[in-house]
Amino acid sequence: MPPLKSLAILILTFLFIIDFGKAATCSDCFIQSQAAYYPNSDEKGTETGRCGYGTFGATINDGDVSAVSDLYRDGVGCGSCYQVRCTNSKYCSDKGVDVVITDHGSGHNTDFIMSKRAFGRMAQTTDAMASLLALGVVNIEYRRVSCNYPSKNITLKIDENSDYPHYLGFVIWYQQGKNDITAVQLCETKNFACKLVDRSYGAVWTTNSPPTGALSLRMLFSNDNGDETWIVPVNSIPENWKAGDIYDLGVQVSV
Ligand SMILES: *[C@@H]1O[C@H](CO)[C@@H](O)[C@H](O)[C@H]1NC(C)=O
Repeated sequence: MPPLKSLAILILTFLFIIDFGKAATCSDCFIQSQAAYYPNSDEKGTETGRCGYGTFGATINDGDVSAVSDLYRDGVGCGSCYQVRCTNSKYCSDKGVDVVITDHGSGHNTDFIMSKRAFGRMAQTTDAMASLLALGVVNIEYRRVSCNYPSKNITLKIDENSDYPHYLGFVIWYQQGKNDITAVQLCETKNFACKLVDRSYGAVWTTNSPPTGALSLRMLFSNDNGDETWIVPVNSIPENWKAGDIYDLGVQVSV
């Protein structure tokens, strides 16, 4: 083999190894995809998103929210945060926009269907925003980022369908960081008897036989590396909880 050719093969092989290594280890890297925005949407998100957040789902993060397809992960992806930026350098800013996942949905090869507000915020200027919105579907790249809720603690909202004391459903708001909540327990504060509750759909956790008395919540936080930690809030849920109530759990996480 002529030396030049073998050198070329060596270099190509080397480049391939570098590239492959990057793809396998880089959790902060951007992933290429496409995004659209909710048709007929007002500025903000939807109150009927599949995560079950209700009105909170439209207004959280000032309405910079999105539906996702595969990233929904049977509801585990609800409440996670992504940096999304479109890639057309004529219209798009480098920073893009950080969105919170509140819904499940897919279109033509789109990983994200964003609120109109969030979609527009990927643009550099107001004129560019009009052009982006006119395109409807754009090439994007995205990566998971930490959620950030300055001056908020993790908060629990008792679902409106709850029926004291027989049926308890709730959603968890304002979880910072990059972890998933993969299991939730309710514990009686009197005797520390705990029971797992079920993820009913999206971010909604329910149980048909809630423990009695004041209750403390335990949340299992899991990350990409397979690390798992139980987080136990300071505040408990009062014994006479009722549908619609909102409780500050007195704890926050940063990763
Ligand atoms: C969050 O919880 C801490 C500790 O329980 C409490 O001191 C603080 O006031 C709470 N913060 C907010 C914004 O409610």
